[in-house]
Amino acid sequence: MSGDQVSALPEKLHSAEPFEPHITAFYCVYCGYMAADTAGALNIQYPANIKFVRLPCTGKTDIRYLMEAFEQGADGVYQVGCPIGNCHHVRGNERGLARVRRAKKILDEIGLGGERLEMFFMSGSQGHTFAMAAQTMVERIRKLGPNPIKPGYAPHGEGVEDLVLGDVEDGEADEEYGFRGRQAQ
Ligand code: FES
Repeated sequence: MSGDQVSALPEKLHSAEPFEPHITAFYCVYCGYMAADTAGALNIQYPANIKFVRLPCTGKTDIRYLMEAFEQGADGVYQVGCPIGNCHHVRGNERGLARVRRAKKILDEIGLGGERLEMFFMSGSQGHTFAMAAQTMVERIRKLGPNPIKPGYAPHGEGVEDLVLGDVEDGEADEEYGFRGRQAQ
């Protein structure tokens, strides 16, 4: 890196927009949805950074849905389900929790960090708890920073392709790794 590049770096970092996380929340149509409704009816404020996805039950979650939310750019993901023992599909929330736990391990293993994923339990009357879950996740993810596999994420202004390919000239990567990334014999 040349002297000019080094001196230009801090300016680039300072000019970056303040980080505001994008969060995806999966909630069940029973307690999760009712808690959101209660928060709305009581005018309880919660952060606007959250995209909600309704599920019939958190037991319907698949680890793939959770991982795909990250692949599609979420900085954090959480689930809201009925309290343990009160799931409208008997033990669906326990299944949902097991999948969140497994997905957390995968996130740790791939270096994304299991803290980016969480599960909350609450009844339909707990509007404040619903708002607190949203606030907790936004604050946690603000501290963790952006999801590094987010499409287009560039910590120093580079595109993802630049970070992956580095100094490889056009065509060199294909020759070395060939079709589907397998290394040529
Ligand atoms: Fe709410 Fe199963 S119906 S978690």
